[in-house]
Amino acid sequence: MTRKLFVTTALPYANAPFHLGHIMEYIQADIWVRHQRMSGNEVHFVGADDAHGAPIMIAAEKAGITPQEFVAQIAAGRKQYLDGFHIAFDNWHSTDGPENHALSQDIYRKLKAAGFITSKTIEQFFDPVKNMFLPDRYIKGECPKCGAKDQYGDSCEVCSAVYAPTEVVKPYSVLTGATPVMKSSEHFFFKLSDPQCVDFLRGWALQDERLQAEVANKCREWLEPKEDGSNGLGDWDISRDAPYFGIEIPDQPGKYFYVWLDAPVGYLASLKNYFGKIGRDFEAFMADPSTEQIHFIGKDITYFHTLFWPAMLKFSGYKVPDRVYAHGFVTVSGEKMSKSRGTGISPLRYLEIGMNPEWLRYYFAAKLNAKVEDLDMNPDDFVARVNADLIGKYVNIASRAAGFISKRFDGIVATDWATEDDAFLNNLRRVAPEIQALYEGREFGKALRAVMEQADLVNAYVDANKPWELAKKTENDAKLQEVCSRLLEAFRILTVFLKPVLPQLAQQVEAQLNIAPLQWASVGTPLPHLHKIHPYAHLMQRVDIKIFDQLFDAPVTTPAAVATAAVSGSSAATPPSRPSPSQGEGENGGAIEALAPEIKIDDFAKIDLRIARIVNCEQVEGSDKLLRMTLDMGEGRTRNVFSGIKSAYQPEQLIGKFTVMVANLAPRKMKFGMSEGMVLAASAEDEKANPGLYILEAWPGAQPGMRVR
Ligand code: 2FM
Ligand code: ZN
Repeated sequence: MTRKLFVTTALPYANAPFHLGHIMEYIQADIWVRHQRMSGNEVHFVGADDAHGAPIMIAAEKAGITPQEFVAQIAAGRKQYLDGFHIAFDNWHSTDGPENHALSQDIYRKLKAAGFITSKTIEQFFDPVKNMFLPDRYIKGECPKCGAKDQYGDSCEVCSAVYAPTEVVKPYSVLTGATPVMKSSEHFFFKLSDPQCVDFLRGWALQDERLQAEVANKCREWLEPKEDGSNGLGDWDISRDAPYFGIEIPDQPGKYFYVWLDAPVGYLASLKNYFGKIGRDFEAFMADPSTEQIHFIGKDITYFHTLFWPAMLKFSGYKVPDRVYAHGFVTVSGEKMSKSRGTGISPLRYLEIGMNPEWLRYYFAAKLNAKVEDLDMNPDDFVARVNADLIGKYVNIASRAAGFISKRFDGIVATDWATEDDAFLNNLRRVAPEIQALYEGREFGKALRAVMEQADLVNAYVDANKPWELAKKTENDAKLQEVCSRLLEAFRILTVFLKPVLPQLAQQVEAQLNIAPLQWASVGTPLPHLHKIHPYAHLMQRVDIKIFDQLFDAPVTTPAAVATAAVSGSSAATPPSRPSPSQGEGENGGAIEALAPEIKIDDFAKIDLRIARIVNCEQVEGSDKLLRMTLDMGEGRTRNVFSGIKSAYQPEQLIGKFTVMVANLAPRKMKFGMSEGMVLAASAEDEKANPGLYILEAWPGAQPGMRVR
């Protein structure tokens, strides 16, 4: 039975071009969608720009254009990315479209009629110059806990405290610098605290493997009764006061839906808009109980998609989502992408410098699984997977077989072979359902590993039969034609397996083999005997690692950026560029990392290196790279330093040790707090081949605060 699937990816804010994280999500969803289509299922895959909210309104104002013009400009830039990476949305729309206005208002009206909307007057900071209420992020001031200046209105990046904007000391508006005043206003709330909501969500979130195990566990926590006896959820403030770029709340002039209310409704709006274009009945499709609604999202927005969104739909009488699939973030060489460190990757630059989009699709697929795990992109790994696996194992099969068929047999394959030599072909056919199931379960990495195992077996057949040897004597012609025909049949089946990931390559193969578009069912339909293929043309180039030098944004060489790189202590410290040609030879003939340009003693003297005692060292929750160190260098206070050495040390191994730190680096705000220096550690340039990290330790007798010169 064919399935009816409505598939979405999270809607990106229309305030910036796509970044690599967006592209990863779209590629993940696109692979899944292509796999479904190859299975014969009906799929409608839609996206849209998330157009509303205060940041977009303010950005438009700064640009001197209307918000509508602003989001239209961003929307105009989307196609080049989507086409460029072969992401085949059926429709791309905007949450500011008429469908979304109508659907959001309809959902609100129905929620209201069902008693799920309440209102209350709340007090909020108001910018008296700009005449607008200020979102927390537009208020800054001193942290009420540690006194750090210029902290946001909701949390402190120095001491990680979380607080209400009203607690901020000396608050000011980020927009005008004015001191905000408290002002009250009526707000509308979705009554998530209603016991019906919690009951529904408990059932929805925890049934039918709707969510990944780790996401379901999070939901369970969110929905747990609190100690004060209240249920797990508070009411959700869904309104914002004018001026706001959004959708007006019916019968409430000057009040708009908070952007997160209408954003997911944009999924429905884009589908409705698309159905309008193709003449399909949106309401009937959504009312059909067999329709499956599936959302691909990033892990940071699970709260919205597993609580607010299903509850909104449920209590307004709409269909609720069937599955929500969350993925992790993209990191580069183990670190969050950062422009300043030169580890930012612009997807557009990737395309502009001529990198093949299907390399990236293959690479992401090879690293994706069904869990909520971050995906690390690393140039060496990228090159290895594309060159050694994709090209070395798969593409090469075609180049080894198709040339002989074209040159020696006029493009004619002979597939009337005796069955006993069919072991590897039968094997390929046998694993097809297993590979299909792995795609279905979003275990793309496992699927590609299984495909490459098959490719290994095919290559073993090549090596056992040596077509290039057979080609030396014309009396072997029949055998040569048979061997190469078997190889092309194997290549055809492998192409079916890879088609969800490599749609363009698959299309080239279909053209060369002169066959109809491949589906999963095509596995069982071999190339016909005496079928004629087109002359072989090379299918895919290898990656040259040097191209990564062009891919990474140039690092920003401010002191703060240098500090970040150094503090990270990992390969991101040097942007993942290649060794320079001037790479030296060590005494034992081994290559060492190229030396940095020569400096004068005065340059060295600028770096203040000190002995520091590691007073404390601990894990950093949420970071898989960093350890937090408390260092004493005899200043009468300790310093907090983050160091990317978690892979090499247990915190307790380091406590009490004396090490060397750079004491005069500009302090740097990091996600987990302020880093006030950097400890020195040695590492090999090729950390993949030689992953050790070695922190420096002072000889006995050195005292905290002594200068190292
Ligand atoms: O986090 C974001 O980028 C939001 N624009 C995602 C919205 S997803 C959906 F709800 F529209
Ligand atoms: Zn603080």
